[in-house]
Amino acid sequence: MTKTTLFTPGPVEVPPHVWEAFTRPLFPHRGDAMHALISRAEDGLRRLLHTDQTVVLLTASGTALMEAALRSCVRNKLLVYSIGAFGDRWAELARDNGLTVDTISETWGHAARPERLRDVLRRGNYDTVAYTHNETSTGVLNPLPELAAVCNDFPEVISLVDGVSALGGVPINLSRSPADIYLASSQKALALPPGLAMGIVSDRARERARTLLNRGYYLDIDTLCQYADKRETHTTPSIPHISALAAVLKDILVDGGQAHYTGLRQKSKRVREWANDRTGLLVTDETIASPTVTAIRKPETLDITALNGYLTERGFLIASGYGQLKPTTFRIGHMGNISLHETRRLLSCIDQFTTNDRQDQ
Ligand SMILES: Cc1ncc(COP(=O)(O)O)c(C=O)c1O
Repeated sequence: MTKTTLFTPGPVEVPPHVWEAFTRPLFPHRGDAMHALISRAEDGLRRLLHTDQTVVLLTASGTALMEAALRSCVRNKLLVYSIGAFGDRWAELARDNGLTVDTISETWGHAARPERLRDVLRRGNYDTVAYTHNETSTGVLNPLPELAAVCNDFPEVISLVDGVSALGGVPINLSRSPADIYLASSQKALALPPGLAMGIVSDRARERARTLLNRGYYLDIDTLCQYADKRETHTTPSIPHISALAAVLKDILVDGGQAHYTGLRQKSKRVREWANDRTGLLVTDETIASPTVTAIRKPETLDITALNGYLTERGFLIASGYGQLKPTTFRIGHMGNISLHETRRLLSCIDQFTTNDRQDQ
């Protein structure tokens, strides 16, 4: 089978030494070895995100932790501030769980506006707000510090932040930009296989959870936190994922994450320059351009399935546009074990395809 390098925005290329963590012998999930492993993984996440709050690990994808956050925190009314498909997911999950939710949104390709959030929170009697840090459908990085500062001015409001495609991809300082629950998935900028969700939970969110009924069992934030306090998980976790997470965090934290973040920035910069010279970018404002994924304008005649067929024969795979942007964009991810050199090779291959007009064949 030809190896295909994933330029998709998750799952991503997993480095070979990380796969090794998946072949190590297992050990019981109750006991000293597990306590030590969970401590390493959780402490690593705390250092990466500059926080001293509770870290929970859940064997599931990130959406499960979004659902857990909603079920455990929304008392009466939730505000979702959506800037794309994954922002909309917050609202969909809330409705599916029978919660009352209002949504405000921006045109896809734009970031959330902190002052708009402030105005709506002032008027709305909300007890919880949810938004996305990095919107994977559009490649927009929301201004976390400014949004967090607004939420901070509303002490009764719990803030839930989906950092699925941001954590490990951008510097995050939760002590300066606090969120009550900041959550992410393994298969994005940490370059692990899918299957592990992680979240930082504030004491306020824990307290809120304890006041609410019907939080369920598997996804109860209070239970997850109580076990995290004991350096355990409430059910049998994917031990290999947690081993791999601890190993990846150790690597990234060698210089506080600087080399890792710079690598992502260089790849995204190259792709953005290239796209700018070709068909154009969805997001032209550099201050909100995501370093983890870029959405590129797609000419009507460009067939992404045909392009991906051509790329796959040469060992690459990119992503189509997402949701309402599927007909007009395609996306290139910068996360995972891919180099700047491979990124350049991918772009040359796309050029070959488009100049040879291969999509007509
Ligand atoms: C921003 C964002 N939020 C949530 C999700 C859902 O994450 P998961 O597939 O891990 O449940 C994704 C997945 O791509 C995402 O990009």
